[in-house]
Amino acid sequence: MHIAMIGTGYVGLVSGACFADFGHHVTCIDKDESKIAMIADGRMPIWEPGLESLVKANIQHGRLAFTTDLQRGIQGAEAVFIAVGTPARRGDGHADLTYVYEAVRELAKALTGPVVVVTKSTVPVGTGDRIAEILKEEGAPEGCSVASNPEFLREGAAIRDFKIPDRIVVGAEDERAREILKEIYRPLFLNQAPILFTGRRTAELTKYAANAFLAMKISFINEIANLCEAVGADVQEVARGIGLDNRIGPKFLHAGPGYGGSCFPKDTLALLKTAEDAGVEQRIISTVVSVNDDRKAAMADRVAAAVGGSLMGKKIGVLGLTFKPNTDDMRDAPSIPLIKRLLEAGAEVSAFDPVGREQAEPLLSGIEFADDAYAAAKGVDAVVIVTEWDEFRALDLGRMAEGMRGKVLVDLRNVYDRVEAERAGLVHFGVGRGQIGRKTV
Ligand SMILES: NC(=O)c1ccc[n+]([C@@H]2O[C@H](COP(=O)([O-])OP(=O)(O)OC[C@H]3O[C@@H](n4cnc5c(N)ncnc54)[C@H](O)[C@@H]3O)[C@@H](O)[C@H]2O)c1
Repeated sequence: MHIAMIGTGYVGLVSGACFADFGHHVTCIDKDESKIAMIADGRMPIWEPGLESLVKANIQHGRLAFTTDLQRGIQGAEAVFIAVGTPARRGDGHADLTYVYEAVRELAKALTGPVVVVTKSTVPVGTGDRIAEILKEEGAPEGCSVASNPEFLREGAAIRDFKIPDRIVVGAEDERAREILKEIYRPLFLNQAPILFTGRRTAELTKYAANAFLAMKISFINEIANLCEAVGADVQEVARGIGLDNRIGPKFLHAGPGYGGSCFPKDTLALLKTAEDAGVEQRIISTVVSVNDDRKAAMADRVAAAVGGSLMGKKIGVLGLTFKPNTDDMRDAPSIPLIKRLLEAGAEVSAFDPVGREQAEPLLSGIEFADDAYAAAKGVDAVVIVTEWDEFRALDLGRMAEGMRGKVLVDLRNVYDRVEAERAGLVHFGVGRGQIGRKTV
């Protein structure tokens, strides 16, 4: 099967490389010349474990190509995937579909025969209908179909998620689109991955419902963490106690600084806008959004409380900047509001992230970027763990503590426990660990 992928970002590049690895012939297209030039040069424009070798191997096998030229990229393709960004629109939170519609217009003009246009970008209900209209308006060849195939991969584990998905959702309104997508994903359902065929609108909504549910799970455990702190319970034990129940499941039950990233914040807002337009209340999701906003905003207060109440003149070392480990993605990362508030309150900040520095630098002015965790901790009043990178799980806490001015560890991911920290001479402030004798802020 010949496939074209419009948009070579986190989703397009991973999906394109994985489709090629299944044996399809894939051309990834991107407007951003620097991205395509980097790949041509053997470098990856994003940091994702395993991606570089997968891309290189499939280029070598002649199954994966890259171009900035849409007309050339779609030649011979039976399916054209759209994987461009759908950020939150400034001002109202609606999904900004400018990039999607622009790509469809360009595609419509470039097509010489019918294809299945497949939306992999996360798009609100009804976007597929509008894409079908645009194809007609712009004079695309007769016989084109439009399908929805939302992507559920997680950055940091994207290749594994793409190749061993929990499920594949395909929303299509005609048999040809279903057949082509079945063929594309055949290597996966030979491996027993369930493929769910639905109507297009249902598939579009399924993606938002999934992300909203996961965001709700995170906010739920964060609120339970607050309660644990007030009543002397341990949220990690509560999470284990409830997560072992199959009806609940253990994932997304880690209390922390609030969710961030390129999906949950914008997708929850976009779902609310869809509901508002449809005149249907979504009180749960609307509460989740405000609970999470408040949580992110409150993290600097936790740091202040841990260093005695005031941040003025304090030096804070921040470990981890990306919104989660194993990615360089800084979109809506909890580190951003935290650091901004620390600076506003008069603190100095030194920070270290294993791969996120390049993306973080333009977003976080006025801080010092350190070369490793120990350098970030040097001379500080407190170290704050914001992202649970593996390399922060095995820190030599004694060595770190020696270099610190104050001996405070604010552990927003509960990477360490009180006993380990105390052994190193550090006072440990975890999240939701309010058992008698334990300190939380
Ligand atoms: N990042 C994730 O983990 C993830 C997971 C599931 C779904 N999604 C969804 O997938 C979509 C893409 O997300 P992403 O994180 O890959 O975005 P991204 O910003 O990393 O990549 C989008 C790419 O599209 C390119 N582009 C924009 N308009 C173009 C055009 N007309 N022609 C060619 N290229 C164009 C941009 O240059 C960019 O490289 C979004 O809708 C997102 O919500 C993302």
